[in-house]
Amino acid sequence: MFTLETDQSSSKPEFYESLNLQLTGLLMEEEDMICNLSQFAAFLMQSLEEVNWAGVYFARGEELVLGPYVGKVACTRIPFGRGVCGTAASTQEIQRIANVHDFPGHIACDSASESEIVLPIMVAGKLIGVLDIDSPIANRFDDEDQAGLETLLRTLTQATQFEWQL
Ligand code: SME
Repeated sequence: MFTLETDQSSSKPEFYESLNLQLTGLLMEEEDMICNLSQFAAFLMQSLEEVNWAGVYFARGEELVLGPYVGKVACTRIPFGRGVCGTAASTQEIQRIANVHDFPGHIACDSASESEIVLPIMVAGKLIGVLDIDSPIANRFDDEDQAGLETLLRTLTQATQFEWQL
């Protein structure tokens, strides 16, 4: 059984550093893409407070297709350029949205979502998909969350065999 260890008194960078060590251990003996992405989604939901959806969409041609996630049932396909996820895919840039209601074209999969962060998943310079994390509170993700999540995502991509996707 995996037991997450968190220290409530630690700073946010220390918190993410601790998560990164635990994620490294969690993924150490497995490189299968579906397996590791499923674990990653559950790990994020288990470790981050005020998060109601975490998971991935895969890049398939010019659209995104739903992949492993934890949260409410979500939309299955998102064209590049649409919504927060589609914008992250088309620009290949992190989208950190303090208030999703202010984002033109935001796709509301869970009406509880108020803020969102989407990180492109890049492997060998190619877009594999996006990591999407939603929160039921506005302005949930700050610079330190973004930096911490980038580190966790790097650990995931280094531990995982994506070659059949390339
Ligand atoms: N809100 C996203 C859609 C995906 S769900 O949040 C899971 C968007 O606007 O792209």
